Amino acid sequence: MFNEESFFKKYGSFYLKGTAYTVFLAFVGVLFGAVIGAILALMKLSKNKLFKFFSICYIEYVRGTPLLVQIFLVFFGSNVIGFDLSALAASCLALSLNSGAYVAEIIRAGINAVDKGQTEAARSLGMNQFQSMKLIVFPQAIKNILPALGNEFVTVIKESSVVSVIGVSELMFQGGVVQGASFKPFLPIMIVSLIYFMLTFTLSRILGVAERRMGTND
Ligand code: ARG
Repeated sequence: MFNEESFFKKYGSFYLKGTAYTVFLAFVGVLFGAVIGAILALMKLSKNKLFKFFSICYIEYVRGTPLLVQIFLVFFGSNVIGFDLSALAASCLALSLNSGAYVAEIIRAGINAVDKGQTEAARSLGMNQFQSMKLIVFPQAIKNILPALGNEFVTVIKESSVVSVIGVSELMFQGGVVQGASFKPFLPIMIVSLIYFMLTFTLSRILGVAERRMGTND
């Protein structure tokens, strides 16, 4: 007979550890992804042809190949160039590099969505390009960027499950461990899905509230 209490007593700590790893991976991924994305977006918007070319290639390549493949590339690639990253470090790096490409497009789209007349007005008032970007365009663009960045966080929480393939003990991996230890195929994964859902649902509710607050600020 299935006994809930002893199941959670036995395996609860696996899920707890897995959840902590998942949240950590997503947090690191989006944080560094945002930094990488901001740099790539600026490069793509810049007039320098080389910067532009590099960022377009990077973004297209990363968005055009599966995250699963990129994780293996970083994990084994680091080994080839003599860095020997741990599975956790390789996962953080792969998630950040992947998220960076998506964030770059979020930032670029957010900036492009600000009406061109805003820049023109700022420039005609005597602001230089940098000033008009910093004082006029960016404060408006951030309202498009932040909500999408929140969604990216939700995405990376889910996508981080892929790093279980290289043995990082995040939630999905721990689900597999509990499957093996309990000889139950379904329940451990059902619990994993519910924990993911709790994480993403809570986060998107919080984001919804934040977004509404920001909107009424106008
Ligand atoms: N699962 C898809 C892939 O493997 C999407 C990855 C999305 N990543 C992101 N940071 N939004 O390519």
